Amino acid sequence: MSSSSPTPVPTAPGHVTVRPAVVADAKLIMQLVNELALQQVMLPRSPASVIENIRDFVIAEVDGQFAGCGALAITWTDIAEVRSLAVAPAMQKHGIGRRIVDALVDDAKRLGIPRLFAFTYVPGFFAKMGFTICEHEQLPHKVFNDCTHCPKFLACDEIAMTRVLDAKASPSKFFAKPQRAIPLPQRTPQFSPPVIEKPAKA
Ligand SMILES: CC(C)(COP(=O)(O)OP(=O)(O)OC[C@H]1O[C@@H](n2cnc3c(N)ncnc32)[C@H](O)[C@@H]1OP(=O)(O)O)[C@@H](O)C(=O)NCCC(=O)NCCS
Repeated sequence: MSSSSPTPVPTAPGHVTVRPAVVADAKLIMQLVNELALQQVMLPRSPASVIENIRDFVIAEVDGQFAGCGALAITWTDIAEVRSLAVAPAMQKHGIGRRIVDALVDDAKRLGIPRLFAFTYVPGFFAKMGFTICEHEQLPHKVFNDCTHCPKFLACDEIAMTRVLDAKASPSKFFAKPQRAIPLPQRTPQFSPPVIEKPAKA
């Protein structure tokens, strides 16, 4: 199958399962996410960003066939992002997106992460998932690290939304105090780069 072939999708709802992704899923994740990104409904993902972060992803299957994906990207001790959430067009509005978000929420709880956020164009869906709209400025600065790689960096039109999973937890206190700096290894003054001899002309 060529890399440009359309994502194979089931056309009718059946038995839905959600499982952690494996590397063999990377191609279908990229095809689906990047097909939807072409329609400007979500951001694209590069092959490297999917493969390197494959452990962030869960996969939804309908009768064993790929039907959607979503990722939980940990930002810091107290917050993680729901990203690259996508359901194959033929399978949308059958509860699969909800199943994916539920799986990501379970994973966040297992990891002890008390708050989720998402940048999205479908606030209605995320509202159904218990998220509420917030100002971008209300999110911690660390959240915006990845924004510098985003094609919309200077003109972000995505809506920021958050969902609190555990209002009492405050794991950010683990890192509340400034950390003692670890001295970096220094170059010795004697260091000099190796001289590479040019081959003598014949
Ligand atoms: C957004 C998306 C993941 C939702 O998946 P889905 O499987 O269609 O959603 P579900 O069937 O699980 O819907 C769950 C609930 O949300 C509602 N919902 C779904 N899409 C919605 C939308 N675009 N706006 C408002 N509500 C929506 C459903 O009606 C349902 O409500 P109910 O529980 O009261 O019946 C899917 O439409 C999609 O892949 N869209 C394109 C990519 C995208 O926008 N991804 C989000 C990137 S942040």
